[in-house]
Amino acid sequence: MAEARAQQRGGYAEDASAGNPADGGLRFEVDGEIATITLDRPEKRNAMTFATWSALARIGESLPEQVRVVVVKGEGPSFSAGIDLRMFTPEGVPGQGSFSSAAAADAATFEQRLQQAQAGYLWLRRPEIVSIAAVRGHAIGAGFQLALACDLRIVADDAAFCMKEAALGLVPDLTGTKPLVELVGLAKAKDLCLTARVVRADEAVRIGLAEKVVTGSDLDQAVQDKIAELLAVNRDAAAATKRLLQGAQGRSLEEQCAAEGAEQAARIKALFG
Ligand code: ACO
Repeated sequence: MAEARAQQRGGYAEDASAGNPADGGLRFEVDGEIATITLDRPEKRNAMTFATWSALARIGESLPEQVRVVVVKGEGPSFSAGIDLRMFTPEGVPGQGSFSSAAAADAATFEQRLQQAQAGYLWLRRPEIVSIAAVRGHAIGAGFQLALACDLRIVADDAAFCMKEAALGLVPDLTGTKPLVELVGLAKAKDLCLTARVVRADEAVRIGLAEKVVTGSDLDQAVQDKIAELLAVNRDAAAATKRLLQGAQGRSLEEQCAAEGAEQAARIKALFG
């Protein structure tokens, strides 16, 4: 229903530091139960700055309650080329500093800035939503980690993942290491991160990094098909199940059984009480 659609394209009034999608190089659109975040700096291969991460965090904070599925995609040939390389120059990104200024900052300031950036990624794991990264072309460094922050990855056959941080003297610090280990296992995660090698679409599917590979022209339809499947199940049951699955690794079998019982009791009460 057109009248039921909310659409926001960079509609926040605040400046970049407050998380304006457009200033962060993003578009944000909501259509009923589906939200779409588009990394929208194709001429720079959707390179990301602190403003991008602030904008992502702000979207997470203000996500309309009706949203059940969040799609993250990139405009143009690449999903994202990762952090804006101007961060490595003394001048940095105008208004956002550089690694030189980060090095000069006290530990608390650095920690606060990093947590703010990580917040832009973490909300994509919230149980109330399912997040899908639709990846075509390169997903490098911070871009790879954004794809990892999502619940599912559907990729075009030209997708190329690369955890490039170690090659640049850095570590992946945008929440990506945990989901990477969970998805591909510790040995493969070490292989990918410590060599900074490129993982192409077929390998990504083979090692569990991506759920599905399709031709580039079929990517949008494949995402739509997955959304239809996700929306076909009960919303509250989906959230409860995601809570259970995400908590499973941190619990013993006995604890997980108890958690299943608690969630099911709540479901049965909601359905039949
Ligand atoms: N930061 C800033 N600008 C970038 C970035 C980036 N990360 N990546 C690409 N661009 C710019 C290029 O400078 C170029 O700009 P210009 O047209 O003004 O010269 C434009 O985007 C297009 O880039 P090309 O290299 O021409 O595009 P191509 O499609 O041939 O290659 C690729 C894409 C593979 C992504 C390449 O641009 C690349 O390797 N980029 C750097 C990736 C990188 O090292 N990222 C940091 C990872 S570590 C982390 O994220 C923490």
